[in-house]
Amino acid sequence: MRALTPAVPAPVPSSEAAAFAADLHAALQGTPRQISPKYFYDAAGSALFDAICELPEYYPTRTEHQILQACGRAMAAHIGTSVELIEFGAGSCVKVQALLDHLGPDLRYCPIDISGEHLAVSTARLARRYPGIEICPVVADYTAALSLPDAGSRRRVGFFPGSTLGNFTPDEALQFLRHAARLLRGGALLIGVDLIKHPDRLHAAYNDRQGITAAFNKNLLQRANQELGSNFEPDQFDHSAFYNAPLQRIEMHLVSRRPQTIELQQQRYTFEQGQTLHTENSYKFTIDGLRHLAAQAGWQAGTVWTDPEELFSLHWLIAP
Ligand code: AVJ
Repeated sequence: MRALTPAVPAPVPSSEAAAFAADLHAALQGTPRQISPKYFYDAAGSALFDAICELPEYYPTRTEHQILQACGRAMAAHIGTSVELIEFGAGSCVKVQALLDHLGPDLRYCPIDISGEHLAVSTARLARRYPGIEICPVVADYTAALSLPDAGSRRRVGFFPGSTLGNFTPDEALQFLRHAARLLRGGALLIGVDLIKHPDRLHAAYNDRQGITAAFNKNLLQRANQELGSNFEPDQFDHSAFYNAPLQRIEMHLVSRRPQTIELQQQRYTFEQGQTLHTENSYKFTIDGLRHLAAQAGWQAGTVWTDPEELFSLHWLIAP
C-alpha cells in the first residue's frame, strides 16, 4: 500500500463531503480496507435500495411489511395511548403507518432522520394522511446524543424497523441499545431484525439476478468519483456478498478485478488483484440472540412477532 502525501490539500466542498473523504482515505489506508455502509445512501444509492426492496430475492422489507400489516393492531395495543412514538432513522415514514392506522389521536410521532429534506417531505405527507396526530420531526443522527421534545406525561416508545441494527457490530448494537434505553426510560422499543436462515436464501438476497445489489455496492465508487473527484472504475471491481456463518453476518465487498491504482484527492492507492474494500456487514439474529443482546443493555424481552417461515422478527422490548 502506498499513499503519496499531497503537496496541496484538495479543497473540500462541504462538511458532508469532507467526512466522506476522510473516511474513504482512512478506509483505503486501513488493513483490512473497510468503510461504513452509510455512504451508500446518496440519491442514486437510495433509489437503488428502494429497487432492492422490490426484488423477488430480497425478502426482508416485504416480510417485515407483512408482519406489520398482520400484527399492527396487536403492536398498537402494546404501544397504548398518551405516547411519544420515536422512530430511529425514519426516512420516508412508510412503515410506521401500519402502527398509526391503529393508534388513537392522542399520540405524538417524532421521526428522527439525518436528512432534513427527506424528513420534511415525508412528514408533510404524513400530516395530510393523519391530521389528528402531532408530528415533531427531529433532524439528527440518532446514534449520537440528541434532544427530543419533552415527553411530559407521555410514555416514550421507540420504533426501529428494517434490521438497521444489523449494520452495527455487536459492540455498536449494544451501545445503541443502551443509548435507546436511556432515551426511552420507562417506555418500550419495537425493533425489527432479520433472522438467521439457510445460507442459500441469505446469499440470494444479496446476489440478485438483476444485479441491482451489485450496482448499489458499486455506487459507492461512483459517488466517490462524483463528490470527491476520484477515478475509480466501477467495472474494474466485482460485487461480492457472502454469509459469514461464524460471525452471523452477510459481508459485502468490492473486489479488485486486477492490479490497479486509483487517485483520491492527489493520493494514490493501489489495489492488488483480489484485494477488497469491505463495504457492509448485515448481521442476522436468532430470536433468542436478539433478546439476549437486548437484556445486556437492560431491556426486558416481551412479545415477538414473526412470519410463518420465521424469516424476520419484530420484538417488543420493555425499557428499564
Ligand atoms: C438496510 C441494512 C437492512 O442489510 O439488508 C440491502 C441494506 N445491503 N442489500 C440489509 C442492504 C444490501 C440492508 N439494511
